[in-house]
Amino acid sequence: MILHLSVEEKIDMQFAAIADGLADTGFSVTDNFISASEANAITSLDDFRTGLLRFKKAGIGKLQDKQINEGIRGDYIQWIDKTTAQPALQIYLNRADALRTYLNRSLFLSLKDAEIHQTIYPIGSFYKRHLDQFKKDDHRKLTVICYLNENWKEENGGQLRIYFKEGPKDFFPMAGRLICFRSDMLEHEVLPANRERYSLTGWMLDKEQ
Ligand code: OGA
Ligand code: MN
Repeated sequence: MILHLSVEEKIDMQFAAIADGLADTGFSVTDNFISASEANAITSLDDFRTGLLRFKKAGIGKLQDKQINEGIRGDYIQWIDKTTAQPALQIYLNRADALRTYLNRSLFLSLKDAEIHQTIYPIGSFYKRHLDQFKKDDHRKLTVICYLNENWKEENGGQLRIYFKEGPKDFFPMAGRLICFRSDMLEHEVLPANRERYSLTGWMLDKEQ
């Protein structure tokens, strides 16, 4: 057994497992993608603490098609600007970028950029079953979500339910957990939570933003 892995070696093993999962099933789940304290530093930012007041109600569709539909999704979002993001967020952005580079090399992808928003689901809110890539010209290739709530419990609900060929499977939004899947392939939904639910939701794109 190898007892002393460096931080870099651990990250490399995580990235390799994510690449394997994506290649095999189009999906991967990774715990401790960021540490509990790194997740905590993000939810302690003013952005998250006052988020419900300042984040925008998330819509469905793009530009003129954009509509807000309470019956489909109830989350509040704020897009992250890479150039001004605070250090706590920058740590995540850098790791996600390292993952993108790794996936490009190991899976011969050409992911050029990522778009990521901070997300708050107020108590009772949900996101009905959907696919992240709606149209053929969509540049979203991979959905990448990092969860941020400490001590999330089963009774808090808020599972991400993914519809695999073999049937649905649920994942709890625990701090530090990263879920990555093919945006064009896997339908999914967020079940209602009875606790505010925090995450960073992103997409790796095949073009620069
Ligand atoms: C989304 C989404 C899932 C989650 O924002 O498109 O499906 O677990 N989020 O937050
Ligand atoms: Mn989605």
